[in-house]
Amino acid sequence: MANILCIGAGYVGGPTMAVIAKNCPQHRVVVVDINEAKIAAWMSDDLPIYEPGLLEVVKAARGRNLFFSTEINKNIDEADIIFVSVNTPTKTFGRGAGKAADLQWWEKTARQIVDNSSHSKIVVEKSTLPVRTAEAMERILNSNDRGLHFDVLSNPEFLAEGTAVDDMEAPDRVLIGGRDTESGRKAVQALADVYATWIPRERILTTGLWSSELSKLVANAFLAQRVSSINAVSALCEKTEADVTEIAKAIGMDRRIGSNFLKAGVGFGGSCFQKDILNLVYLCQHYGLNEAAEYWEQVVKMNNWQQQRFVSEMITAMFNTVAGKRIALLGAAFKADTGDTRESPALAVCRSLLEERAHVVLSDPYALENARADLGKLADKVIFEPDPYKATEGAHAIAVLTDWKAYAKLDFARMFKSMTHPAFVFDGRNILDRKALFDLGFNVYAIGKPAMTHFENGK
Ligand SMILES: NC(=O)c1ccc[n+]([C@@H]2O[C@H](COP(=O)([O-])OP(=O)(O)OC[C@H]3O[C@@H](n4cnc5c(N)ncnc54)[C@H](O)[C@@H]3O)[C@@H](O)[C@H]2O)c1
Repeated sequence: MANILCIGAGYVGGPTMAVIAKNCPQHRVVVVDINEAKIAAWMSDDLPIYEPGLLEVVKAARGRNLFFSTEINKNIDEADIIFVSVNTPTKTFGRGAGKAADLQWWEKTARQIVDNSSHSKIVVEKSTLPVRTAEAMERILNSNDRGLHFDVLSNPEFLAEGTAVDDMEAPDRVLIGGRDTESGRKAVQALADVYATWIPRERILTTGLWSSELSKLVANAFLAQRVSSINAVSALCEKTEADVTEIAKAIGMDRRIGSNFLKAGVGFGGSCFQKDILNLVYLCQHYGLNEAAEYWEQVVKMNNWQQQRFVSEMITAMFNTVAGKRIALLGAAFKADTGDTRESPALAVCRSLLEERAHVVLSDPYALENARADLGKLADKVIFEPDPYKATEGAHAIAVLTDWKAYAKLDFARMFKSMTHPAFVFDGRNILDRKALFDLGFNVYAIGKPAMTHFENGK
């Protein structure tokens, strides 16, 4: 039996520990956080994050071998293995502002671990970190004068929000990086044994520390790069009457390319892709690799351009002005099946439309509370309406910004009747039936496809 602790009860800490506890009744798992409200929510049936299947997993283990607490110091002392899953956002000040990772929460946690430990432990980096962070972690942890030894491992998390439970139950791989020393190898083995309770050994990959740390940044950079690549193609499709969905299918059938992550849209979002790429850019610059830095930075620039392009298209289509027009935005979450709105393209579009003085109505089944918080003062100018039918009443346009499956099944005939005409649909996720909408009377714009309008020149 091991005492496992996770510091940070967010989108990663909560679900990962719940799945470990569910599958490993032999271990005691505690999740701690400085945020009391979040911990209280984890102990209730109203979890702090929306994630399909998560409540069932939490309920299966909570109170048995899964516990949530705000008592950080006591739990640090009792733990044998400590996962650190605190946030590592982009730095907003000083050296590296706008690109480098802000490691202040990370370092505070390391110091708290060493100050509250009376026996040696394994410390696991679960957060996404710049390569070689473990070196700093080792120095802080092992500079104690009490003879305590800490082995630092890197175990980046590859789960995707929206499928976090399935991703943890059956991951493509689990990556564990450690030192090639006797105690380093033992630590890697101990962590691998935890995962091996439910994950086949051949999917548990062990590497050196630096490869493991860097693999996480590189995985996110590759995924985001595919999205930006297909989005770059979508812009060309709109000029040439090619269809980006047909192209994605045609190239995706080539096994060297593969079909995943080739969906054109209004851009990627979420707390990770942009942050992790900018972190990679900063690392390249730090080592003087400016061409490599510029290469990766272009992935983020492309993503920002795609969002601006979408808004610009809306304005042009709606006779070059949206001022005073009611526009219903369907979706606030950065993707379907999550309530997370961090870096959501929907909020970027919302902000731009507000600048153009549109009357924005924001609708989403799960993310409105987070959207309101993220928009800050601008939230006063937005109408939040969970019901898509009410949101679209009297609207000049609908923009679909999150790929919630339910949006494809809405009664658009009913909506069309209640809207101001001419009525527009801008499908930022390519999930709607364009022809059917056009036949209902809508002017339809999608990403990377020819517009379908009822105007004389077809524009
Ligand atoms: N969200 C994802 O899909 C995802 C996927 C893979 C990796 N990651 C990485 O995992 C890390 C965590 O991401 P997240 O989305 O879970 O963030 P989050 O903001 O949802 O959660 C982090 C939690 O850490 C807590 N915290 C901060 N400092 C603390 C301290 N000193 N003591 C105790 N608790 C503290 C915060 O209160 C917060 O609840 C990041 O490095 C992120 O890049 C995220």
